[in-house]
Amino acid sequence: MNKTLVISGHPNLDESLTNRIIINRLSDLEDVEIRDIISLYPDFKIDIEAEQKALLEADQVVLQFPFYWYSIPGIMKEWMDRVLAYGFAYGSTGDKLKGKPLIISTTIGGPEEAYQEGGYNNFRIEDLLLPLRQTAYLTGMPWQDPVVSHGMVYIPGVYNVKEEVEQKAKAHATRLIETLEQLELAQSTLV
Ligand SMILES: Cc1cc2nc3c(=O)[nH]c(=O)nc-3n(C[C@H](O)[C@H](O)[C@H](O)COP(=O)(O)O)c2cc1C
Repeated sequence: MNKTLVISGHPNLDESLTNRIIINRLSDLEDVEIRDIISLYPDFKIDIEAEQKALLEADQVVLQFPFYWYSIPGIMKEWMDRVLAYGFAYGSTGDKLKGKPLIISTTIGGPEEAYQEGGYNNFRIEDLLLPLRQTAYLTGMPWQDPVVSHGMVYIPGVYNVKEEVEQKAKAHATRLIETLEQLELAQSTLV
């Protein structure tokens, strides 16, 4: 199987409901390395060399995160700012990520219908993910259809039913794994 690197951007997986389920499911797979970056770098001091090494060894990269303020969590932004450096990820010699597919996998609190013109979140998720898509483009990482789930928040008595949210997280993990398998299949038929 292709080697998959999963960067987990949740700021506290111990307190997570949905990302924890997804990450646990992925951790059962062979050839998947999961880097829980807040546990590795609680002080936000990213080891750039170690992260770049993990990227170099990977065939494909998953960014797994909860959608925060229409974007990625702060620790994941710090990771991107530091690790996707000039000469590594972009620039005349910055071709180290070229050809490694990028899979965005995100859990979103708001319902799907809110993410459209006229909805209370006004923009579509694919629009809000454009900075990540452009990052993939600049770095030469083939962009894959993102794996997205809505209504992934559980607040007792306010939002959703816990068991249903857990079920959605399991279904999300299954879809993500299918995406990885399809990529593997597509690549094996290329050679
Ligand atoms: C700081 C913060 C910002 C959030 N911003 C958004 C947002 O912009 N849009 C949205 O739909 N949900 C938002 N949410 C809800 C999260 O997406 C949701 O809680 C998360 O996906 C659940 O993941 P977890 O169970 O792994 O913690 C936000 C939650 C937090 C804590």
